[in-house]
Amino acid sequence: MSEKELRERTSSGNKKLDSMMDGGPLRGSVTLVIGAPGTGKTCVGLEFIARGITELDEPGLIVTFEHFPKKLLRDANSLGLDLEEMERKGMLRILFTSPEIFFEQAQAPGGLLDTMVQELGAKRILIDSISHLERLASDPVRLREIAFTFINALLRHGLTAIVTQEDRDITGDMVAAQYGISYLVDTVIVLRYVELDSKVSRALLILKQRASAHDKAIREFNITGKGLSIGDPFTDREGVLSGAPRKKEIEAFMEVFGKKSKSAVKGEVD
Ligand SMILES: Nc1ncnc2c1ncn2[C@@H]1O[C@H](COP(=O)(O)OP(=O)(O)OP(=O)(O)O)[C@@H](O)[C@H]1O
Ligand SMILES: [Mg+2]
Repeated sequence: MSEKELRERTSSGNKKLDSMMDGGPLRGSVTLVIGAPGTGKTCVGLEFIARGITELDEPGLIVTFEHFPKKLLRDANSLGLDLEEMERKGMLRILFTSPEIFFEQAQAPGGLLDTMVQELGAKRILIDSISHLERLASDPVRLREIAFTFINALLRHGLTAIVTQEDRDITGDMVAAQYGISYLVDTVIVLRYVELDSKVSRALLILKQRASAHDKAIREFNITGKGLSIGDPFTDREGVLSGAPRKKEIEAFMEVFGKKSKSAVKGEVD
């Protein structure tokens, strides 16, 4: 991949996310999408692959260690994405395998990854999820090496990639250390559950994006029959990433004491 190509931006498959990402992910970059079960990691990945095909004509490869291809097709369908049709047209391949086999094959020149990328002319890849690589070793140093080798294998092919990772905490304070491979990837997108007024909502944040002026806001998002719908930042809340945000003091005050006290806050007399 040329220097010029590496400075080009491509699409995440979601226009709002692209605008948050300073125009979109850089070509040949790796984005980690991390979140608790059901937060929408696979949805983000499926949009990335499917819209890459339908809107940019970029063939895509999905490697899954956990979802049977049939389940993936069904999940994609519920987002309005017809993966079967894309497979039929030769623009998509879904590989359902074990982390052991894939890791071995990803390193080997002429291995499964090389072959599939070449045959398909793949430009994008989704790995769902990289958490399964943890099965390959128990030693943290060895695990780091494995993650490093793995990410490099993706970069070697010049693929723009999304890898998903499971966050064990459903809610709770964000601890940077738990984002195991964050330092290896270009972009980290965090998905969280947030309890708001006795209802569970979802929040999305771009934690980092190399070489980009990315959006820093924590935004509410929904998963719909048309894919991800990203909304406004949680401006009147604090502690959103803790999962149980508090209203900012002033907002809470206004809610309880209303308009009359607004002037009192300013020191005015009614
Ligand atoms: N068409 C739809 N309309 C509304 N919500 C949907 C729709 N399709 C999926 N969802 C929501 O998306 C959730 C699953 O999202 P997804 O599979 O991407 O999560 P995940 O983070 O990959 O989970 P896991 O860790 O279990 O793989 C469902 O639980 C459901 O709430
Ligand atoms: Mg998933």
